[in-house]
Amino acid sequence: MKKDLVSIADLNGEEIRELFKISAEIKGKQLDLAQGKTLVLVFEKPSLRTRVTFSVAFFQLGGNVIYLAPADIGLGKRESVPDVARNLSRWVDAISARTFAHKTIQELAENASIPVINALSDAEHPCQALADFLTILDHLGSSSEREAFDWGKIKLAYFGDGNNVCHSLMLTAARLGARMVIAGPQGYGPKQEFIEMAQEESKKTGASITITRDPKEAAADADVIYTDVWASMGQEQEAEKRRSLFAPFQVNPELLSYAKPNVLVEHCLPAHRGEEITSDVLDGPNSIVLDEAENRLHIQKAILYRLLPLTGG
Ligand code: CP
Ligand code: NVA
Repeated sequence: MKKDLVSIADLNGEEIRELFKISAEIKGKQLDLAQGKTLVLVFEKPSLRTRVTFSVAFFQLGGNVIYLAPADIGLGKRESVPDVARNLSRWVDAISARTFAHKTIQELAENASIPVINALSDAEHPCQALADFLTILDHLGSSSEREAFDWGKIKLAYFGDGNNVCHSLMLTAARLGARMVIAGPQGYGPKQEFIEMAQEESKKTGASITITRDPKEAAADADVIYTDVWASMGQEQEAEKRRSLFAPFQVNPELLSYAKPNVLVEHCLPAHRGEEITSDVLDGPNSIVLDEAENRLHIQKAILYRLLPLTGG
């Protein structure tokens, strides 16, 4: 594995499968791998799940955690990003960073001698996508086929904004060989760069990543339906305008009726009930959103378990 997890592109399919395996092996176990070590959380945006799960994961590995809130260090303002990375490398053993610009995490990774993990940027949310695919595996992979799970039989239909979460899901689907269809309004699709990366990888793995404007076509026969907020953190001023444009892509009981009867419904959370997803679906029998939230803990513990020893951290 590389020193850092900045993008899903830092992992290959084998490494993703290995993380799934490790997460199951160390789930719920108190270990001492990180004893005497410190993880620092450098966050430019708010968080519930990511902050708590990274902290609990590191506690379960035996380590300590420091949280630096958006106003604490003035990343790139009070001090340059490379200088912050070089200083932190002298005191702590790993960095988990949540930023606006993706470049900020890239710069942290390039200038830190310790592992840097992307805890969400404007371009990607790799830990989320890994937790989401792990959750699909938990629900659809029987214990005998878990390790050799055939992702080619899974159709993931994503509705709404072609955002950071969508980008990381696309790259993960491409690496695992799954089918993913993205349905959203014109002008709000995933970035071309991510479409190209995912399609290039798909040629090797047999995955299929396609875009449509037709929500019914996307939902048809889907094994998993996924959605995320229509306006991400930092886009709050666009929320009003987006509401009407995105309305046809709402995940509601009608949309579910086009999918497989036992379709799994995923959402990274936080959800805006009544916007991208209705409450009856979010709280309904198909929803596995809390399993995803729980799996953030297990997959990030596996990521830290795998990356920490790489730098003697
Ligand atoms: N899904 C997720 O990353 O949640 P938070 O923003 O609460 O961390
Ligand atoms: N796309 C959302 C994900 C939040 C976990 C955002 O960036 O705000």
